[in-house]
Amino acid sequence: MRSQTLMPSPAAPPEAAAITGPRHVAIIMDGNGRWARSRGLPRVAGHRAGAEAVRRAITAARAAGVRWLTLYAFSSENWRRPATEISDLTGLLRHYLRHEVAELAKGGVRLVIIGDRARFGADLQAELATAEQRTAHNTDFTLVMALSYGARHEIVAAARIAAARVAAGTLAPDDITEEVFASLLATAGMPDPDLILRTSGEHRLSNFLLWQAAYAEFVFLDVLWPDFAETHFVAALAEYARRDRRFGARPE
Ligand code: IPE
Ligand code: IPE
Ligand code: MG
Repeated sequence: MRSQTLMPSPAAPPEAAAITGPRHVAIIMDGNGRWARSRGLPRVAGHRAGAEAVRRAITAARAAGVRWLTLYAFSSENWRRPATEISDLTGLLRHYLRHEVAELAKGGVRLVIIGDRARFGADLQAELATAEQRTAHNTDFTLVMALSYGARHEIVAAARIAAARVAAGTLAPDDITEEVFASLLATAGMPDPDLILRTSGEHRLSNFLLWQAAYAEFVFLDVLWPDFAETHFVAALAEYARRDRRFGARPE
């Protein structure tokens, strides 16, 4: 029953959306803990409700003609949380993968994971790899899950690859262009996010997509993530449509 809302109708015709709408939306899904606390519930209840909101976000993004949706689900700094909360979160992730991947695969969603997955247990790493493989044939819509993700770690890892190639003599320092460097990041081949949303009223990036966000538009929503609904997504897109993206050029 629950999964009925996961798969939306096929992506909306791209005409209208492609002209004004963002191609890539990234969301910092924040506020699960406060949502639970305000109801006198344990934090895990907020994370569970947050997983339901993920389904609504996917539906809303597809309905709006968005082609790339990146969700920040677990940061490299979230490892600082108590072991019980981490195990609740990884348990939910495992549950999500087991129960949703078949439907993602059937429903035209490609799942891509970014982040330092080596920090997860071997079983979860295997589930992540399987989920990616089982959805790899889908090309219309990509759901990028940022898990154990930290932008500084990602950038340092890219710098190490470049340095190793220079040391090996296969890359000249002058050939490290922005394009080459971007191709060494976890997001290689993905368009930069056009729009970054953060829920829960916090106004910060928390180590999310620091390189890729160079020219993103930001919309901060007061709603707590478990209460996120399609209407919030639509409102954020309306706000995006009012923005004047200049990319440094002189205004008209
Ligand atoms: C977002 O909700 C989920 C994760 C960061 C894993 P939080 O757990 O950060 O909720 P708040 O910010 O404490 O309300
Ligand atoms: C950012 O939320 C990470 C995710 C949403 C996964 P946090 O709740 O961890 O961020 P801070 O600690 O408030 O900056
Ligand atoms: Mg938070």
